[in-house]
Amino acid sequence: MASSRIPNFYKKTVEERRELIKSRLDAFDELDKAFDEAPLPVETADKMVENAIGTYPLPLGVGLNFLINGKDYIIPMAIEEPSVIASASYIAKIVRNAGGFQTVSSGRTMIGQIQVVGCEDFDAAKAAVLKQKEVLIGAANAAYPSIVARGGGAEDLDVRVLNEDTSASKYSTMLIIHLYIDTRDAMGANMINTMVESIAPLVEEITKGKVYLRILSNFADRCLAKATCKIPPELLESEGFSGEEVRDGVIHAFEFADSDPYRAVTHNKGIMNGIDPVVIATGNDWRAVEAGAHAYAARSGSYRSMTGWSVDAKGNLVGELELPMSVGTVGGSIRVHPTSKMALRLLGVDSAEELAQIIVTVGLAQNLGALKALATDGIQKGHMALHSRSVAIAAGATGEMIDMVAQKLVEEKEIRIGKAKELVAMYTR
Ligand code: MEV
Repeated sequence: MASSRIPNFYKKTVEERRELIKSRLDAFDELDKAFDEAPLPVETADKMVENAIGTYPLPLGVGLNFLINGKDYIIPMAIEEPSVIASASYIAKIVRNAGGFQTVSSGRTMIGQIQVVGCEDFDAAKAAVLKQKEVLIGAANAAYPSIVARGGGAEDLDVRVLNEDTSASKYSTMLIIHLYIDTRDAMGANMINTMVESIAPLVEEITKGKVYLRILSNFADRCLAKATCKIPPELLESEGFSGEEVRDGVIHAFEFADSDPYRAVTHNKGIMNGIDPVVIATGNDWRAVEAGAHAYAARSGSYRSMTGWSVDAKGNLVGELELPMSVGTVGGSIRVHPTSKMALRLLGVDSAEELAQIIVTVGLAQNLGALKALATDGIQKGHMALHSRSVAIAAGATGEMIDMVAQKLVEEKEIRIGKAKELVAMYTR
């Protein structure tokens, strides 16, 4: 992959942008095919969901400037909200100048849950399951041999008894088995559900109880990805604000979100502004990622900031974001959706672990973009600047006229299509 830094990309036409992206990738003739054919043929949509009557497209843009563990990434982002891609790319440029983002993962272990009720002696049932652990793991793997062939599969198992001491309801005491499964490059929902369903009869035999639920957990806390960055204050300086002021504003903003759920929800929504578009563009299940991320933000018992921002001994702004990231690069809708296949090629990722790390990186960049704006000019200034460009283009401005019209609209605080048309007519004369 060549550099993801492409100056003035936003000023180009859509066609020019595609050519620029293609020129940076080897043998990427599929890009045109993916863009020019219907992004998702209705015949394919009909195979994906029930009662299909069409498709629902979203804008697809690219996050630029991302340097992660020394590697450049052009990041596909599918999102309807303006400013998000611009903000992520802007922060990625700053962090790039500070050496880029660093990332790590905790592995690819997902969890399948089995609920057992009605055991006469729950402690004895728990002991019996633990005694038969290897048998259960073997049976789970026998139900999905292809993952074992790929070097993954069920690896371990845990048992808990919930509400053992409460006699409040006959429904509340239960044995919960966690089956830990390495899903390799798949998100693994089908694999996990197949495994837990297949061993349920054996679990009933061992526990002498009745199995009800058999399903994966989206609280994927053994499938974590973490991104960090360290930025010298001088790189944060912006019009009217010193780098130190911006740094301190970001840390104050983090402390606010970390202490107040009303703020944390909006702060974390801004992080998901970066995460969801990459999850969607790569054909992954964004509801699963959303649910896991918010649960992880509440793991201390209070709902808090997903990110952490602090200052180190040298005065640098230090940021981190760690989240469960149950995404895949194979299987599910990725296999059938032409745009997600193209998006993964564009990213050039080798594994689900790498994809997970890219996704949290975009979340971290997005959060810094929002906090930097909020702690300085406020977010409306940037939004209005971008909005004015769209209004100028809609009014017929082209080339250099776009910026001239957009600037005038902002100056005169009148970002209206009517006003833009007047300006276009005036400049064309
Ligand atoms: C808007 O989509 C996201 C923000 O509200 C995030 C934040 O407040 O941190 C700007």
